[in-house]
Amino acid sequence: GRHLIEPGDFQLNEIESIMQLADNIIADPEGYSLVCKGKLLASLFYEPSTRTRFSFEAAMLRLGGEIIGFDDPNNSSVSKGESLGDTIRTIECYSDIAVIRHPREGTARLVSKFANEMPIINAGDGGHEHPTQTLTDLLTIRKFKGGCDNHVVGVCGDLLFGRTIHSLVKTLSRYQGIRFVFISPTELKMPAHILNQLDPKSYQETTSLDEVIGSLDILYMSRVQRERFVSEEEYLRLKNYYILDKKKMKAAKQDMIVMHPLPRVNEIATEVDEDPRAVYFAQAKYGMYVRMALIAKLLGVEDKK
Ligand code: CP
Repeated sequence: GRHLIEPGDFQLNEIESIMQLADNIIADPEGYSLVCKGKLLASLFYEPSTRTRFSFEAAMLRLGGEIIGFDDPNNSSVSKGESLGDTIRTIECYSDIAVIRHPREGTARLVSKFANEMPIINAGDGGHEHPTQTLTDLLTIRKFKGGCDNHVVGVCGDLLFGRTIHSLVKTLSRYQGIRFVFISPTELKMPAHILNQLDPKSYQETTSLDEVIGSLDILYMSRVQRERFVSEEEYLRLKNYYILDKKKMKAAKQDMIVMHPLPRVNEIATEVDEDPRAVYFAQAKYGMYVRMALIAKLLGVEDKK
């Protein structure tokens, strides 16, 4: 089977073709409503989720497929000491495709080695990668900005622990004419192993959102990742470092878009939600369509329409 563990597993033209299929599904959802009939998706969330889990499950159901999974990972035999490898070998006896989220980095890659035919999709592994959020983000950019090339992209917040950010930045850097403005407290800077993969001329780093907001085409906000901090005190000190509000939005371009993978805590004031430039709930909706496209591609059923 073909897996999606990190966005680098897919060529850019494959990513574009998933987005094209998502566009086709948005244009004709009825046409795709039975392409996964008879197929089962295993939904394995060992870490909390709202959007990723429900959008994957909604995606499979809207394609005519069905879902199995647990509401609490403590109800699976992993709680009796079973390895994740054995778990996946067992799940493969019953399902056609599996989605896994796990707090430990590398878990999705590890379990994919135990699946013979069944595609594995990484729904987030610790602070490492979140490739289907990247597909969601790219589809959103394509919808609101016409395509993914030639943008000034501000990435703001927890750049150290934010897995959605790591996956998105690595992927956007494969497009043409992308300039990044990394906005974070010094304690939460983009890790060196990601900066080292970028053209040094393609990014700048700053602690000040106010100084750069007027230059951005896209502002990608992110939550300070409480669950990855060793020190609660450090989290509390940094959690409200950036709060995007109406006043800050006054300095932004009229056609800038504000994105956020969600969940948000305080980093975007709710007063910004009514601003037409705020697209984070549209982004959550596109997440379902792009996951429909991904499932259909990985199961090879997109032409059954
Ligand atoms: N964006 C995202 O991954 O949200 P959830 O954690 O709610 O799935």
